[in-house]
Amino acid sequence: MVNFKTLDDFDLNGRRALVRVDLNVPMNKRKITDQTRAERIIPTIKEILEKGAGVILASHLGRPSGKVVPDYSLEQLIPLLKILMPNRNITFSPDGNKEPGPGEIILLENLRFNPGEENNDQDFSKFLSGLADVYINDAFSCSHRAHASTEGITHLLPSAAGRLMETELQALDLALGNPIHPVVAVVGGNKISTKLGVLENLLKKVDHLIVGGAMANTFLYALGNPVGRSICEENMANVALDVIENAKLLDCEIHLPSDVILAEKLEDNPKTILAKKDSVPSDLMILDIGPDTVSSIITLLNNSKTLLWNGPLGAFEFKPFDNATNCVAQAAANLTTKRQLATIAGGGDTMAALKNAQVSDSFSYISSAGGAFLEWLEGKKLPGVIPLLND
Ligand code: 3PG
Repeated sequence: MVNFKTLDDFDLNGRRALVRVDLNVPMNKRKITDQTRAERIIPTIKEILEKGAGVILASHLGRPSGKVVPDYSLEQLIPLLKILMPNRNITFSPDGNKEPGPGEIILLENLRFNPGEENNDQDFSKFLSGLADVYINDAFSCSHRAHASTEGITHLLPSAAGRLMETELQALDLALGNPIHPVVAVVGGNKISTKLGVLENLLKKVDHLIVGGAMANTFLYALGNPVGRSICEENMANVALDVIENAKLLDCEIHLPSDVILAEKLEDNPKTILAKKDSVPSDLMILDIGPDTVSSIITLLNNSKTLLWNGPLGAFEFKPFDNATNCVAQAAANLTTKRQLATIAGGGDTMAALKNAQVSDSFSYISSAGGAFLEWLEGKKLPGVIPLLND
């Protein structure tokens, strides 16, 4: 099991805790479109406050690249934090010159307005550490970055994982560290080129690898199937064949679509055609996997103990190309409810795809991390997590 420092390792009474959170919530025209990340940090903050400490919340929002960009100001998050934590004293302090008393919360300005954050600059780390007595990292989703607020500060303050980080690390351990076999991984998304490291690492760890999304087209193409006008990385065909060969050596079974759903255009509700994988006409695109493939995936899940899911199976943003993702996700959710399958998902579009499938509350754990989840799937040690581990 992973072994790391947690809130239980500190006496927080009367102290100031700098809590690195991920308030990088999706926004559209200054409106928050998904508040999951903000909701998930609340238990950690409440616990620290209840233990008699003051909290300094630190986060980034977007990628302002070391400059002050008002659209990315964290002041915009204050109303949401006040809704999520009513009756709490929450103040915005752009330059950190306010000190939180016990039970109070200070929100700092976007860390990335200061170039020192992304440069992991010592002075900026010192500035942050000077605001607090202890450092809590509750932002797994930012821990693949060696920044001042995720790595630099850990050299200067006693450091531990927050409750969200703790849950995340335990879920990840359940999926890849110490999973119950058979383990199935679903990997979807557009490109092999961006997920090669993930595929290679998973081959070593899982018993079955289901490839979906446009990435599967490159595998089908490499094996001599026509893919019409589908997204396909023709220049990665040899890499796909290598992955298939490696899988054999590592005793991991790769599952590719046997049938596919086609359309002329990627839009909502176009005319669709079901075809076998070797009969894709030249003028059509593969936009989802077909019912035979879905049913063999569900059979596989029925005979498995752990599912790790990264990336949708089809172009789920457009109907009906969310169908395969929805069917497989719902089957996985049912098995989870019956305690037959541990289901851990995360990365990029996955949270949105599983939300669309209405299974967000039924999986064992769905991570809101993007890049960090992928790097972890690649088997990398994350610079923000390493300092939290016990020797
Ligand atoms: C994320 O959205 O994945 C995290 O907030 C990290 O953001 P970044 O990719 O800009 O570092």
